[in-house]
Amino acid sequence: MGLSTMSGSIFLLIIFFILPRCHCLELTLGCASKSELPSGDVDLLEFPLNLEYLEAEFFLYGSLGYGLDKVSPNLTMGGPPPVGAKKAKLDSFTRDVILQFALQEVGHLRAIKNTVKGFPRPLLNLSAASFATIMDSAFGRPLNPPFDPYANSLNYLLASYVIPYVGLTGYVGANAKLQAADSKRLVAGLLGVESGQDAVLRGLLYERVSMEVKPYGISVAEFTNKISDLRNKLGKMGLKDEGLLVPSVQGAEGKIRGNILAGDSYSVSFERTPEEILRIVYGGGSESSPGGFYPQGAKGRIAMSHLSN
Ligand SMILES: *[C@@H]1O[C@H](CO)[C@@H](O)[C@H](O)[C@H]1NC(C)=O
Ligand SMILES: *[C@@H]1O[C@H](CO)[C@@H](O)[C@H](O)[C@H]1NC(C)=O
Repeated sequence: MGLSTMSGSIFLLIIFFILPRCHCLELTLGCASKSELPSGDVDLLEFPLNLEYLEAEFFLYGSLGYGLDKVSPNLTMGGPPPVGAKKAKLDSFTRDVILQFALQEVGHLRAIKNTVKGFPRPLLNLSAASFATIMDSAFGRPLNPPFDPYANSLNYLLASYVIPYVGLTGYVGANAKLQAADSKRLVAGLLGVESGQDAVLRGLLYERVSMEVKPYGISVAEFTNKISDLRNKLGKMGLKDEGLLVPSVQGAEGKIRGNILAGDSYSVSFERTPEEILRIVYGGGSESSPGGFYPQGAKGRIAMSHLSN
């Protein structure tokens, strides 16, 4: 082998090994670069952090009795600890499911923050009283005794019914507004697991659909219907939420009362804008008046643009 052919093949070898790596490196950097996404995408990807923080804390506390400050303090970015969250009295099956949800939410926080900078954990009001207020609004009268999400597995599942579904509709709504492929891929992936959580919660509740929620003499179906009605009312954009038993015209193909999954007349998921979501999670039907789970408001450009000061 002549020197020139040898250096030629070495050169080729180098090209062969280096080039693809450079290419990969470029791709990886492209993926990891948090500034390359269009600013509209960044806002839409950061907004759901508000809900992911809430879900992570509610599920971590519910199953373990502690939250992100112990499990993954860096993810809080120094935001204040949640108010009133605590370990729920769960049977071992429910606890196992909720712990899995909790860790999935921790993963979601990481996934979003690997893509966009994000913001510190907002102040979250996860006290029993906060959930009791929602249930009282849903029924239009104070429940007596006040609803306690942490009292038992059924109450905890009903309280959980309040949250992931809202995230789900937000991801469906965000998807159409995203521009970059990386943003769409992330949101589709988050939506998949979020809707899976909603399906598990609805499935577990559907098994007990006629069971009485003690001591109220109200069925599980009625609880879900009232919570969904309340969200429709607060969101102010018509029907985007359905409980576990609906008039059959509202069920799949307009033919069935059982409603284990919510969807429109084609059984396609409903979508909500960030503003609709804020009206719901603030508890008062206004995106500019914080309250409910977020006493000081949600964070990120979209939510903060609606706060007057
Ligand atoms: C968490 O933050 C600390 C202090 O900023 C840093 O030293 C540490 O590497 C971080 N850990 C992770 C897992 O990011
Ligand atoms: C949490 O919510 C309850 C019920 O609405 C309220 O009484 C309490 O003051 C709230 N706590 C904070 C810190 O906002």
